[in-house]
Amino acid sequence: MLLKGNEIISLFKGREQKILQTIKLAYKIYAKGDCNLPHSSFLRFPNNETDRIIALPAYLGEDFNTAGLKWIASFPGNLAVGIERASAVLILNSVQNGRPQAVLESSVISAKRTAASAAIAACSLQGEQLIDTIGLIGCGLINFETIRFLSAAIPTIKTLFIYDLILERADQFKYKCQQILEGIEIVIVEKTNNVLKNASVISFATTASIPHIFDIYECHPGSIILHTSLRDLSPEIILSADNIVDDVDHVCRAQTSIHLAEQQTCNRDFIRCTLGDLLNGTAPQKQDNKITIFSPFGLGILDIAVGQLAYELALQENRGTILESFFPTSWLQREEAWVSA
Ligand SMILES: NC(=O)c1ccc[n+]([C@@H]2O[C@H](COP(=O)([O-])OP(=O)(O)OC[C@H]3O[C@@H](n4cnc5c(N)ncnc54)[C@H](O)[C@@H]3O)[C@@H](O)[C@H]2O)c1
Repeated sequence: MLLKGNEIISLFKGREQKILQTIKLAYKIYAKGDCNLPHSSFLRFPNNETDRIIALPAYLGEDFNTAGLKWIASFPGNLAVGIERASAVLILNSVQNGRPQAVLESSVISAKRTAASAAIAACSLQGEQLIDTIGLIGCGLINFETIRFLSAAIPTIKTLFIYDLILERADQFKYKCQQILEGIEIVIVEKTNNVLKNASVISFATTASIPHIFDIYECHPGSIILHTSLRDLSPEIILSADNIVDDVDHVCRAQTSIHLAEQQTCNRDFIRCTLGDLLNGTAPQKQDNKITIFSPFGLGILDIAVGQLAYELALQENRGTILESFFPTSWLQREEAWVSA
C-alpha cells in the first residue's frame, strides 16, 4: 500500500486521543524490552553543517508486532523557499516474511508522534500541578502539533505564550492556532525569557544547532521543559535539572545538550529515568523542586507504531493505493532470454 501525506492527515483528523494511546503503549512496551532499536544513522554532506537525512530502523513487539524504517530529511533552508524543513518516508515491513507492506509519507506521522510524546511527558510529569499556561519557543510545525496534543491531553490550558526569532513566523503560528484552539488566549512575546517566566510547561522546537539558553532562573520552580529540539539548553542547565529522556543511549549522541553534559561530566548520573519508566511506574522519585527537562531523541518505534495505526485505519476505511504488482515474479518462474554480449 502507498499512503500519501494528505491521506494520513485525513485519517488522523480528530484522532488525537487514539494517537496518544498508541504512543503511550509503544513507550511501555519499549521500556519492557520487547523491541529492537538500533542507533539512528545520520547522513550529512561535505561543508554543510545544517542539512541531514536520518535513517531510523525499528522493531516493536507485543500489540504492534511490526518493523520498519523511517528515512527523514531536514533541510532548514527549505523554509526560505516556501517548503517545509522536513520530508520523510516510512516503510513498514511484515514481521512474518520481511516484505515491505506499506510505504507511507512520514513527515505527518513524525510530527504527530513527536508532539504526542511531548504531551504524554508533560502529563506524566505534572503530578498535582495545575497546568494553565504553555510556552512555545520556535513557531514551526513541531510546536504546532505539540500544542494540538497538549491541549488534547491537558484540558486546563488557558494561555499560550509564543516566541520565534522571526516575528512573521510567530504571527502565522498564532493565526493557525486560532483555527484549532478554542478558548485559549495566544500571546506573542518578544523574548525567550518572557516565555520562561510566564509558562509552566515550555516546549522548545527551534532549529538551533548549539545552545543559546544559558540560564533558566526565571522559570517557576517545578516547571516542565519539553526540549524537543534537543540543542537549545546549555549543558550547565541540563546538569542543574531533573532529566527525563526517551532512551539514554540514543540521546547521548549527536551533540544534543544531554550529550554535551555527558561529555562534561563523563557520566550519565544526571539522567533520572526514561519516559517509559515513568509510564510503567518504575522510575525513581524526583528529589526536589528542580525544573524537569524532557529530552526525546525521537525513537523509530514511535514512527512504526503510529505508521501501523495509519496503515490499519487506511485498510478499514479503504484508503491508500494498493500496488498490485510491486514484487517481481519469482526468479524461478521468470521468462528468461539469452544474455546479450
Ligand atoms: N526530538 C524529536 O523527536 C524531534 C522530532 C521532530 C523534529 N524535531 C526537531 O524539532 C525542531 C523544530 O522542527 P520544525 O519542523 O518545527 O522546524 P521549522 O523549521 O518548521 O520551525 C522551526 C522554527 O524555529 C525558529 N527558530 C530557530 N531558531 C530559533 C531560536 N533560537 N529561538 C526561537 N525560534 C527559533 C525558526 O524561525 C522556525 O520558525 C527541529 O530542530 C527538529 O529537528 C525533534
